[in-house]
Amino acid sequence: MRKKIVAGNWKMNLTVNEGLVLIEELKKEVSSGIMADELIVFPPYIHLTAMVENAQNEILVGAQNCHQEENGAFTGEVSAHMLAASNIGHVLIGHSERRAYFNETNDLLAKKVEVALNASLTVVYCCGETLPEREENRHFEIIKSQLTEGLFHLTAEQMANVVIAYEPVWAIGTGKTASADQAQEVHAFIRKLVYDAYSTSIAQGVSILYGGSCNPTNANELFSKPDVDGGLIGGASLKAIDFIQIANAY
Ligand code: PGA
Repeated sequence: MRKKIVAGNWKMNLTVNEGLVLIEELKKEVSSGIMADELIVFPPYIHLTAMVENAQNEILVGAQNCHQEENGAFTGEVSAHMLAASNIGHVLIGHSERRAYFNETNDLLAKKVEVALNASLTVVYCCGETLPEREENRHFEIIKSQLTEGLFHLTAEQMANVVIAYEPVWAIGTGKTASADQAQEVHAFIRKLVYDAYSTSIAQGVSILYGGSCNPTNANELFSKPDVDGGLIGGASLKAIDFIQIANAY
């Protein structure tokens, strides 16, 4: 059985104290039981150690990015190894904001994925098309190249530590969500790509999360689809009550 995962991408939001309050609220809810198997938060780098200490493994903590090299003269950057050494278990790779604003290409992301897995992190690899790409009916082609070029160089063993997030760029932070049928169509397509590249067991085991204006109102319908294993949540992960409602929307 693959894991049901709800993950919160805080992006560049919340001060450390606001983050700690949120973690406390989430912990209270998690201790009384949630439907998701895993609840993960992705705070800004500077908050990571404080969050991981306070989350006490009841909530998992991941980083929003890492550098593609193991170490060296890369001012301002953080390596996968440093994250792992600070007890961070997950890293987001290939979020569309990194692709769009920081020029991250599939080739670069392939290196980041590799270095993160070598440091024993679990990778949440993001893919998704822009609005023009969907309007031109190129979304399948785009997603296929994002996965083939950024992810499918991995061995089957490495793939066991990868979660995939489908995030249509036109739905991120826009209040527009993919319909549950649109999400299911793409998630089934992604699972088939994993099957073609690897095997039935890898394809059946990989959790595929939906992201893009997922909220307490639409999460239930999205998560009811057979290939939607959870969500990567931006805006709605900043409020404990909303995030927990999503974590219970199975
Ligand atoms: P959103 O962001 O939920 O605010 O649309 C999702 C994401 O970018 O991960």
